[in-house]
Amino acid sequence: SSTRTRVSFETGIYQLGGVGLFLSSNDIQLGRGEPMKDTARVISRMVDMVMIRTFEQSKIEEFARYSKVPVINGLTDAYHPVQLMADYLTILECGIDNPIVAYVGDGNNLTHSWLMLSAKLGFELRIATPKGYESDATIVAEALEIAKESGAKISFSNDPKEAVAGATVVTTDTWVSMGQEDEKAERLKAFDGYIVDSSLMALAQKDAIFLHCLPAYRDYEVSEEVFEQYADEIFLEAENRLHAQKGVMVWLDQQRRVNN
Ligand code: NVA
Repeated sequence: SSTRTRVSFETGIYQLGGVGLFLSSNDIQLGRGEPMKDTARVISRMVDMVMIRTFEQSKIEEFARYSKVPVINGLTDAYHPVQLMADYLTILECGIDNPIVAYVGDGNNLTHSWLMLSAKLGFELRIATPKGYESDATIVAEALEIAKESGAKISFSNDPKEAVAGATVVTTDTWVSMGQEDEKAERLKAFDGYIVDSSLMALAQKDAIFLHCLPAYRDYEVSEEVFEQYADEIFLEAENRLHAQKGVMVWLDQQRRVNN
């Protein structure tokens, strides 16, 4: 199921003059019945681009390996890259240059994409997670390696206050991601003290913004007050999924034309 990803991609495809074909998990059984590599080899002979939203990162990578056309990651358990394209566009539109980003919460798929974005673009990223909920060590190592070239300063702590002090962008994500529903009670306990509320935001720079990829669980990862205070930025961020993804699709299409 998907709100922003489906609506923004389908609308973007139509706006660019294309035709979007939506295949739900009921329509095709990715990796079940027919091997993924066969599905990839069939579909990619009939379309110009594929966006996949799934769970396992390994599935999308296998699809991409066998695909003749570009494959866009529309969310997996490991990454959410198109969200970060929208987030960075929002940061730029809010007039924030060279951001200092504080991410408070779960070291999850979104955090992994923040790590990659910071490492590639070179901005400062401070991540505060509870103990035991840190980002994947392999992805962290990869990001730190990339960061050596860009000069990005990336730091980790278990203290939201330390991460947010002086930040220009504060962000978070749900404490219970897809596939973790059974861990809800345990996670709510572990994330106690990690809510982004007004007292935490007060530590950021005066003109700092708050971003949330949505859906937001009020009074868990973010207080209702902070959410509504930054609603303009948050919903601009949601709208920017459309614009940023159109940019990704145009760029991929241009690559395809150059390579053919
Ligand atoms: N971390 C969340 C992102 C939702 C857009 C999840 O994977 O459920």
